[in-house]
Parts: sequence; C-alpha cells; structure tokens
Amino acid sequence: MRVQLGGYGLEVEDHGEGVPVVLLHGFPLSSQSWLSIRPALEAVARLVTPDLRGFGGSDKPEGEYSMGSLAADVARLADALGLERLVLGGHSMGGYVALRFAASFRDRLAGVILIDTRAEADTEEGRAKRQAAVERVLGGGRDAYLDEFVPNLVSPTLRARAPRLVAELRAAAAEVPDHVLVACQRGMRSRPDSSALLPSLDIPALVLVGEEDTITPPAAAEAMARALPRATLAVIPGAGHTPSVERPIGTAETIVAFLRSLSE
Ligand code: MLT
Repeated sequence: MRVQLGGYGLEVEDHGEGVPVVLLHGFPLSSQSWLSIRPALEAVARLVTPDLRGFGGSDKPEGEYSMGSLAADVARLADALGLERLVLGGHSMGGYVALRFAASFRDRLAGVILIDTRAEADTEEGRAKRQAAVERVLGGGRDAYLDEFVPNLVSPTLRARAPRLVAELRAAAAEVPDHVLVACQRGMRSRPDSSALLPSLDIPALVLVGEEDTITPPAAAEAMARALPRATLAVIPGAGHTPSVERPIGTAETIVAFLRSLSE
C-alpha cells in the first residue's frame, strides 16, 4: 500500500495483528530483504515493512537523506498508520535510522531490534571510503562500485556456495538510482555517534548479528548489547551482514522469541 508523507510516498507492507513491529531495511536493498522472515513474524505481530525513501517501490526524491530525516519519515509513517508505540527494528543503515528515531522519539518505542548495525559514527577511514564511493558513482562507476560492494552483504561461505543470493541482492541494488546511492552514502557519512544514547534506552532490545559479518562485525553488536540496559545478544551462525536473507529460519526464530518475550 501507498502511504503519502507530504511530498513523496512510501510503499509499505502492513500485515498481521498484535504488537506493531516496523522493520527498516539496509543499503542498497528494499523491504524485499524481509520476505523470507515475514510469514513467521506476521504470525505473532503486526509487521510493517516500508521501502525507505529512495528504495524499492517508494518515491525517490532528490535532496538530503540524513539518517535523522529518514527517522522523521518513520515517525510520519507511524502517525499515518496510527501507531502510537512500536517495536522498531533496523538492518545496518536501517539500524542507524532506528537509533536516530530513538534519539528523537524515545517515548514511542516499546522495544528495539538492531540487526547487523553499529552505534558509532564512521571512522575517518570509513568517511574516506564513502567519499570514494560517492566519487565513483558520480563519475559513472556505479556498476563497478556495486559489483564490489554487494558480495560483502553475505558471508564468505555463502558467497562461494550460494551465488544466486548475491545475484538477487545485486539485482535489488541495480534498481537504486545514482542520486539515492550518493545521498545515502552522504547521509551515513555524516550520521552522529549514537553510543551515548544506548544506556538511556531502558526498553527491551534485541541485538542480532551474523557470525561472519565483515561490515558491522559481531564486536560492534557486542558493544551495543553491553551498553543497552535490557539487551539480548543473538549471533546467527553461518550468516554474514544480511541474516534475514542468508539464514531466514534462525533469524525469524530469534526475532519471534524476542517478540513473544515482550508480552510475558
Ligand atoms: C548497509 O548494509 O545498510 C550499509 O552497508 C551500512 C554501511 O554502509 O555502513
């Protein structure tokens, strides 16, 4: 369904009954990343999975895509759907957005799910890599950039054993226009450090990470789980950066167990 947020619309799946759970996908993917785990989650919750601005079936406006502005989109989406309080989950860039949402709209959160993401801002090296990515895309090198980047979204094991998975993710990335690739890299590069926020997030939290994630490795998840007062840490064996796609059964079971624990 289409949800209009002022000047642009988001494409949103909204199914199931129970606690509202909004899941935000990572870069450069879409809500398709939740496809395999959606049935299990919809059986226990009202699951809302938007395509973030710029991705999938959503509109792709020009302009700034700061993590804070994407978090404001989520707040407006929640308003439009009548969700007063929600569990907010985010994968990687979606996690950066979820943490900015927590910074601005903390009282609306009943829980948080942080999937293969990190609380810290980029390092100097990370910022330089993003600048290089921006220059490659602006210089006409988007395909080479995505060819290099996308395989890192899955574990080294699956990269070798399941090339079809990489091909599917690469096909999703192919849909993202240059200006969105650039805007997100700039938005992620300038995101603030959310570490100081974590100790004050006194709500149930699930921190989930693929054992073989090389982009936001288990150490980043462990640090968040230590800093959050009420966190459960789950490491998904055999998965890399995108466990919902790589190991959907283990990922769904972990999230369902967390959602069930909220009503106990
Ligand atoms: C993502 O998976 O959303 C991005 O790779 C995150 C990042 O580049 O920091």
